[in-house]
Amino acid sequence: MYKEIKDKIWYLGMNDRTTSLFEAIWPIPKGISYNSYFIDDEKTVLIESMGEAYYSHYIAELKHLLKGRQLDYLIINHIEPDHSGAIKDLRREYPEMKIVGNKKTLDLLKSFYNITEKTLMIDEEQTLNTGKYTFRFFITPMLHWPETMFTYEVNTKTLFSGDAFGSYGALNGGIIDYETDVAEYRSEMRRYYVTIISKYAAQVQSAFKKIGDTEVDMICPTHGPVWKELVGEVFEAYDKYSRNISDSGVTIVYGSMYGHTAQLADTIALKISQSGVKEIRVFDSSHSDISYILSSIIHYNVVIIGSSVYNAMLMPNIEKLIDAIKDRKIQHKDFASFSNYSWAPAATKRFDYFAEEIGWQKLDPTIIQKSNEADENRESEIDKLCSYIVERVNSNPL
Ligand SMILES: Cc1cc2nc3c(=O)[nH]c(=O)nc-3n(C[C@H](O)[C@H](O)[C@H](O)COP(=O)(O)O)c2cc1C
Ligand SMILES: [Fe+2]
Ligand SMILES: [Fe+2]
Repeated sequence: MYKEIKDKIWYLGMNDRTTSLFEAIWPIPKGISYNSYFIDDEKTVLIESMGEAYYSHYIAELKHLLKGRQLDYLIINHIEPDHSGAIKDLRREYPEMKIVGNKKTLDLLKSFYNITEKTLMIDEEQTLNTGKYTFRFFITPMLHWPETMFTYEVNTKTLFSGDAFGSYGALNGGIIDYETDVAEYRSEMRRYYVTIISKYAAQVQSAFKKIGDTEVDMICPTHGPVWKELVGEVFEAYDKYSRNISDSGVTIVYGSMYGHTAQLADTIALKISQSGVKEIRVFDSSHSDISYILSSIIHYNVVIIGSSVYNAMLMPNIEKLIDAIKDRKIQHKDFASFSNYSWAPAATKRFDYFAEEIGWQKLDPTIIQKSNEADENRESEIDKLCSYIVERVNSNPL
């Protein structure tokens, strides 16, 4: 699939609608695209390449764009195999092609593909001129691999950003944001961020510092649509996520075997909703993939987690969730918990310990129910908790 997206800059990518789990972990029910870019200058340039499985289609399209010319440069912003598996075949096809990367890229190029010849090591002081166009490089380590960098074409102000600003979801014909319905890509960009990038929030901020006030007209990531009209919105979203700034709203997640904890979740959601809050998302952790839950958690400022007690611990998916939150160091949330038990109410302690460890603001009271027992205080406790939650939602600046 190819298309000229700017003067002599071509999108060249593939849609994958057959892989179920990206990185063998994250569900991609709407698929994913692998994007590379071809620049038809005096020298010919490819930015990123392709996974091995797509090589035969990819090379046919690349040859079509090259119209019999040689490929002069391959710039690698990110060498994860979803973008680089085709390199060995490409090198065979274009033996003179120079592979451009930073020191860490070239280390990884050797360890993945045993390629050490015809490489060009660049750093941030260097530029690469290909005729009409000039490329400069922002080395942005750990977005999300050590070699990751941005390549910037100076004349067209085009930022080739690697995985940063990418989204899940195969492309639906439209390649540039204004050519497609972006609603789903917006939320899939956030889910991509939380699954792939969020552990490196500090490095996102360093990358922003590095690009400083460099003007960006178009962002060309390795997955999902090219951003043109929404460049400002996309930068702002990444800035917010990486600084833990949340929109006003509530994520409620629960783990429940026999429905008692689930009932509490719905009671709490209903109460909050009756105060006029619309931004509430309720997830059953046994049903919704953790990536969707984490995406909601970074989106909204209040997080409420419930669990039945399971072998003196939380339900396994809830344990997994709190570990994932800790791993990503997600900050600045207001937090409440609820639980159901039958003989030893072990959940509260675990939730309190978690809140303390992560540094989230705990809202009281904690709601605890024993099996299906009625408790005359419970309703007023839920009312009290929900009024604090609504207060936190309404006082969030965004
Ligand atoms: C495998 C298993 C382990 C459990 N472990 C505990 C426990 O350690 N402490 C406790 O109080 N209840 C324990 N329970 C009981 C449930 O937490 C309790 O029945 C609760 O009401 C279930 O809530 P739910 O309907 O939301 O699933 C366990 C139940 C099961 C099936
Ligand atoms: Fe990657
Ligand atoms: Fe990628």
